[in-house]
Amino acid sequence: MLFKTTEEHEALRARIREFAETELKPQTFLLDKENAFPTEIVKQLGKMGILGIPYPKEYGGMGLDIISYAIAVEELARVDGGTGVILSAHVSLGSWPIFAYGTEEQKQKYLIPLAKGEKLGAFGLTEPNAGSDAGGTETTAVLEGDHYILNGGKIFITNADKAETYVIFAVTTPDIGTRGISAFIVEKGWEGFTFGDHYDKMGIRSSSTAELIFNDVKVPKENLLGQEGQGFKIAMSTLDGGRIGIASQALGIAQGAYENALEYSKERIQFGKPICQQQSISFKLADMATKLRTSRLLIYSAADLKEHHEPYGLESAMAKQYASDRCLEIVNDALQIFGGNGYLKGMEVERAYRDAKICTIYEGTNEIQRVVIASHIIGKMPKEETAPGPKKGALTGVRKKLILKEGTAKERVDALVESLKADGYDFTVGIDIDTPISKAERVVSAGKGIGSKENMELIKALAVQAGAAVGSSRPVAETLKYVPLNRYVGMSGQKFNGNLYIACGISGAGQHLKGIKDATTIVAINNNANAPIFKNCDYGIVGDVLEILPLLTAALDNGEPKKPAPPMKKMKRSIPKNTAPAWKTYVCSGCGYEYNPAVGDPENDIRPGTTFDALPEEWICPDCGEAKDSFIEV
Ligand code: CAA
Repeated sequence: MLFKTTEEHEALRARIREFAETELKPQTFLLDKENAFPTEIVKQLGKMGILGIPYPKEYGGMGLDIISYAIAVEELARVDGGTGVILSAHVSLGSWPIFAYGTEEQKQKYLIPLAKGEKLGAFGLTEPNAGSDAGGTETTAVLEGDHYILNGGKIFITNADKAETYVIFAVTTPDIGTRGISAFIVEKGWEGFTFGDHYDKMGIRSSSTAELIFNDVKVPKENLLGQEGQGFKIAMSTLDGGRIGIASQALGIAQGAYENALEYSKERIQFGKPICQQQSISFKLADMATKLRTSRLLIYSAADLKEHHEPYGLESAMAKQYASDRCLEIVNDALQIFGGNGYLKGMEVERAYRDAKICTIYEGTNEIQRVVIASHIIGKMPKEETAPGPKKGALTGVRKKLILKEGTAKERVDALVESLKADGYDFTVGIDIDTPISKAERVVSAGKGIGSKENMELIKALAVQAGAAVGSSRPVAETLKYVPLNRYVGMSGQKFNGNLYIACGISGAGQHLKGIKDATTIVAINNNANAPIFKNCDYGIVGDVLEILPLLTAALDNGEPKKPAPPMKKMKRSIPKNTAPAWKTYVCSGCGYEYNPAVGDPENDIRPGTTFDALPEEWICPDCGEAKDSFIEV
C-alpha cells in the first residue's frame, strides 16, 4: 500500500511541529534532567485539541483520523520522547477503551473531559506477575452490593499520578484465566487508591511512571467497562491501537535523531570536507532515511486500517516491532555520527538514545509482537498444559504472614520478639549500624512512614538493639535524603541477603520487595493494614511506628552492650505448608475420571484454568459420557 498524507495531515504536522519546537524544545533538557512532567505543555496540548484528536466532536474530540493521531505522537516524540508517550497513553490507552466499550453515560462522564484535555487518562494492566503474560492479573475486584472492591496493584503505569481517569483490569472470577478478568473506570482520589513513588528511569524521563496501589477501593458497579469477563479482550484490543502510538513515538524519536545527525554531518568538517560527504557517513544517512520511510509506511498502513474499521492487530504489531527496532538502530547511528560530542549530557542525540530503548519493551515487548504476528500467520501456538502450582503472589516468595493483632501494642511486640528468638535470633550480639547492606546479617530499614528526620533516631536505636545495620527505602534516601544513597534497599539499590529484615513504615513497593526477597525473615511494622509489605512478611505488626519502635527497642534491650556478632551464617527459611491450589477436585461417578482444572478439557474446548463450577452445564465426562451433575466432589 502506498501512503500519501493529505494537505490536512501536513498542516496538522506543521502546527504541532511548531508548537513542539517553540514551546517544548526549550524545556526538554531540564525535564529530562529533573525527571519532571511537562504539566503546562500537556495543558496547552489539551487546549489545542490534541488530547482528543481521533474522537468524534460530539465527545469533545477533534474528529480527525488515526493517521493524524500518529502524526501528533510522532511530532511530539521528535522533540521529546517522554511527551510523545504521555499523548499515546492518554489517547490510546486511557481514553480509547471508554470510547469503544463505554456506555453512553460513561462516555459523557469520562470520555468528554479526556478528549477535551481537561483530564488525563491512564491504563493499568501490568503487574509484578503479569507483564508479557497479561492474563496473569492478580488484582481482584469483588462485587459487594453496589460496588466492586478493588485490591492489588499495578506497576510501570504511564501518566501514573498525573492522570485523573484510569482504566484498570482486575480479576472478578478467579481460577478461570483470562475470561475472569474485567475492566473498570477508576477515578483518582477514591479512598484507598494511592501511588508509589516515581521510577527513576533511563529515558522518557519527562513522562511520569509509577505504581498504582488499590486497598479496598470502592468502584461503583456502573464503572464496570463492558461486561464482566470481557476485560482481557478489552485490554488486548486497546493494545492493538496503543501499538500504533508507540510505533509513532519510536518513529518520532528516530526522526529527531536523524535530522540532528544530518545537520551535524553537514557542518562537521574532517579530512577537508563535511563528513556527510564521506561515504561511510552518507551510507549511514541513506540507511537511516530508508528505515524511517519504511517505518512510517507501516505505521500509516496500520492507522489507515484502524480508521476504516478493518482488522489491524497484525499491522499494528508489525509497525510497533519494526519501528522500534529500527529506532534503536537509527539513534545508534545518529550518535555515532556525532562522535564524542553525541556522548555528552545535554545533547539531544544522547537523550534520544536513552529514550528509544523503552519502545522495544513496553506495550508488549518486541518478542510479544512477534508472538502476535506469528499467531496471525500460522495460528495460535498450543498452550502447554502445566500442572497447578502454588498460587503466585508475594514478591518475596512464600512467607508466614503472621500478623500480630491480639493484645496491646506491648503484648504484640513481646510476641514478635518471642517468635524471633524461637526462630533462632540471638539479640545479645550485633553488628555496626553502618555495616554495608550487602554484608549485614540484619537490617532495620526506614520507609516514608517514619515521618520527619528526627525519627531516624528511633530507627538507629532499634538497629542497635536488634544488632542490625540501618537501611531505608528508595524515597527515604533519594528524596528525603535521611540516609546516604548507598543504604537504600531495592531492586535498583542494595540487595539484602542476610537473615532478619525489619521494615519500619515501608509500604512495600515492588522495587523494594525485590531487594529483600532473599531475606530469611521479614518483619513489617506499618500503620496501614493494607500495605503490600504485610503480604510479603513473616511477622507483621499493624501500628504507628512512633509507638511500636520504642517498645520493640526496649524489648530487645538486655541492658548490656551487644557482643560482636559471629560471621554471618545464612539461616534456613521456614516455608508454610498450605500452598496447594485453591480449587476443589471432582471425579466422575461413572468411570472415576478426575477433572483437572489446570489442564481443562482441550478436546472439548475447555481451556486450562477453567474450574469445575465454570464448566458449561452440557459438558460431559470425556471418558465415559456421564453428565456433569454426576461428578462428585472429593
Ligand atoms: N483483541 C481481542 N481479543 C483478543 C486479542 C485481541 N487483539 N488477542 C487475544 N484476544 C482474546 C483471544 O481471542 C482469547 O479469547 P477467548 O478466551 O475467547 O478464546 C483471549 O483473548 C485470550 O487470548 P490468548 O490465549 O491469545 O491470550 P494469552 O494469555 O496467550 O496472551 C498475549 C496473549 C499476546 C501474549 C498477551 O498476553 C499480550 O499481548 N501480552 C503483552 C501485554 C502488553 O502488551 N502489555 C503492555 C502493558 S501497557 C503498556 O506497556 C503501556 C505503556 O507503558 C505506555
